[in-house]
Amino acid sequence: PTPIPANASDNPAPFAFELKKTDGRARRGAIRTPHGTVQTPAFMPVGTQATVKAMFMGHVEATGAEVVLGNTYHLMLRPTAERVNRLGGLHKFMNWNKTILTDSGGFQVMSLAQLRKLDEEGVRFQSHIDGQKYHLTPERSVEIQGLLGSDIQMQLDECIKLPASREEVQRAMELSLRWAARSRQQFETMGGPAKGQALYGIVQGGDVGDLRIRSAEELGKLPFEGYSVGGLAVGEPQEVMLEMLDITLPAMPEDKPRYLMGVGTPDDLLESVKRGIDQFDCVMPTRAGRHGLAYTRYGKVNLKNARHQDDHRPLDEASDCEATHHYSRAYLHHLVRTGEGLAAMLLTWNNIHYYQTLMREMREAIEAGRFDDFYQETKENWARGDI
Ligand code: GUN
Repeated sequence: PTPIPANASDNPAPFAFELKKTDGRARRGAIRTPHGTVQTPAFMPVGTQATVKAMFMGHVEATGAEVVLGNTYHLMLRPTAERVNRLGGLHKFMNWNKTILTDSGGFQVMSLAQLRKLDEEGVRFQSHIDGQKYHLTPERSVEIQGLLGSDIQMQLDECIKLPASREEVQRAMELSLRWAARSRQQFETMGGPAKGQALYGIVQGGDVGDLRIRSAEELGKLPFEGYSVGGLAVGEPQEVMLEMLDITLPAMPEDKPRYLMGVGTPDDLLESVKRGIDQFDCVMPTRAGRHGLAYTRYGKVNLKNARHQDDHRPLDEASDCEATHHYSRAYLHHLVRTGEGLAAMLLTWNNIHYYQTLMREMREAIEAGRFDDFYQETKENWARGDI
């Protein structure tokens, strides 16, 4: 028998999405899950191994984040979904009581696992840790996400790298559609909707406009709680990604959240919100923080650079982030140069704080009907640069 997933209360409020306001194509909304409300557009910090690397969850919360991302692939290998379930679910395990979204594993298998073999049934692979063999199917992925107690789950899909031929893009898109139907079936079998959880379908179709539209239209016929745009930021220029959003978003249901997977830079977020995206995740702010790079309202700052060594100013005078205004650039430079763990902690904190500030400001601008002005001002600040 299928074990009862963690965090399943008897009568949770159902998953819901409310579209509160639009400004041009930009959307201001709210998502309700069994673990609270997520104001959108939202950026979701990545917590692959049940941790947002180098951060306390209390600090993640203090930046304004209302949802973090977990990964099926990593957690099924270690410590396993069954163990997380026995320990009370992923929320309890990682001390995060707000919303958790999990990716389905397909994308990570393709980038990390060894000896992958993909067929209609699913994907067989060997763990990148110890070579152990696994078989991930659409059904097993949803089962794992249920065991973790994920509030927002993803269908198993196949994401291919670009450039790729039309035939290859079409094959992966059609396989992903068949996996979407199987994922949905498993989600309903496990009682996901009654637990207030969500399962999102994932639009594929590479850089081929008509395949993207078909993928979006076919997925829209299935009763998903939300829809993701996958297969972008996989090697194509930003221009191509934005063109794909322009083509894809009008073919997606308007009354459901839209999540652009694995994106992106602050500029990607601004451009994508402008086109109607509601949710994002990306390792960029956390990974950059571990490499001495800081994001501020005046663009990216490399703290390794010697120009900071006598600079007593904080990273960003206007920021209200604790990690930013208590420490000088000279100190941050010193921590980065000496390879201290605190460098990663402070810069990751700063970066997540900046991403959350950008999202909040975009939400406020949409509410005030001044998104275009905000877009211009923000681009001007980035162009000014760090001086
Ligand atoms: N993360 C970034 N892109 C993708 C994608 O296309 N599919 C999935 N499942 N995860 C992603």
